Amino acid sequence: MTRKQTEYFTISQDAVDAAQIARCAEILSGGGILAFPTETVYGLGANALDGASVAKIFAAKGRPADNPLIVHIAASGALSALAREIPEKARRLAEAFWPGPLTMIVKKSPALPDETTAGLDTVGVRMPAHPVASALIQACGFPVAAPSANRSGKPSPTKARYVRQDMDGRADGIILSEDSGVGVESTVINMTAEPPVILRPGMITKNMIEAVIGPVALSEGITTGEAPERPASPGMKYTHYAPTADVVIVSGTAAEIRQKIAQALRPGEKTAVLTSVNAPEAYRDLPVRVYALGEAPEAQAHALFSALRACDDDGIEKIYAEQFTIGDRSLAAADRLLHAAGYHVI
Ligand code: TXA
Ligand code: MG
Repeated sequence: MTRKQTEYFTISQDAVDAAQIARCAEILSGGGILAFPTETVYGLGANALDGASVAKIFAAKGRPADNPLIVHIAASGALSALAREIPEKARRLAEAFWPGPLTMIVKKSPALPDETTAGLDTVGVRMPAHPVASALIQACGFPVAAPSANRSGKPSPTKARYVRQDMDGRADGIILSEDSGVGVESTVINMTAEPPVILRPGMITKNMIEAVIGPVALSEGITTGEAPERPASPGMKYTHYAPTADVVIVSGTAAEIRQKIAQALRPGEKTAVLTSVNAPEAYRDLPVRVYALGEAPEAQAHALFSALRACDDDGIEKIYAEQFTIGDRSLAAADRLLHAAGYHVI
């Protein structure tokens, strides 16, 4: 694709500048594509109602055309214009978790072009909680389709500099803002199934959802640590979240993990360890670069993608990642790590 002259904006979530937002909305109204911050990861937006604009997102990302986009709205009332029907449980989840990191799959309205939904009869809708994102969508006056703002296959960008790295010359505009708070993408739940099915785990957890609407299912392959035979969501069948380095997950007790890594090290290979079980000091005597992700699931989710990206910046060739414990709150980061490692666990 021909390189574009990307227009840059710096907008803080603490002081959303209306004049800059107006210019950004103009880019989207004019059919352009623009990267913007959300509370989960940065997104790459286009007018969701305009197929030709949405097609530019696929070209800029190198995204397979059969992978549908999430449509972002600024008020929950906007859901009714995008959905043919809104299940009662969806209304209750919107009430409980919007604005926030929850995407609901519902039957789509004919107003949405095939480009946005990849020809599916359903659409994923989310109302982000980020002040810049909501100001932007409001200023547009139309729903904004936006996948994560990475080149397809790469870890989603949680820092402005990674958006610039991936989208400079590809997007018409880029909003530089603070680091993403959540750090992993929204929970995706299919509300057209009964019971509803979580297709992608996120910070709105299964327990949190069940507290509002009762039992929901987790799609096959999310918990087991094995590659699913059938992808739950079109997006789940592609290599995902992968840095240039080869990623291997290391399982076991803290001592076993350290032992396995020490034994696997190859001389001359630039190696990193992502710690969450062992303290960084456990690797002091080994020739590895340590990235500490923290102990709390929320800290791990926040740090994971930026650590994978930092490994690329640092020229790392091999990444050993300590396995996250699997639990309700840690499922999101554990799932992303499994994808980044192509399910390679030792
Ligand atoms: O947090 C997020 O959700 C971020 C920010 C920018 O909002 N967006 C994001 O979009 O992660 P993306 O395109 O990277 O991931 C969307 C996921 C994909 O796995 C896609 O296949 C799935 O949602 N999806 C979208 N529409 C769907 C549908 N109608 N049915 C099933 N899966 C769908
Ligand atoms: Mg993505």
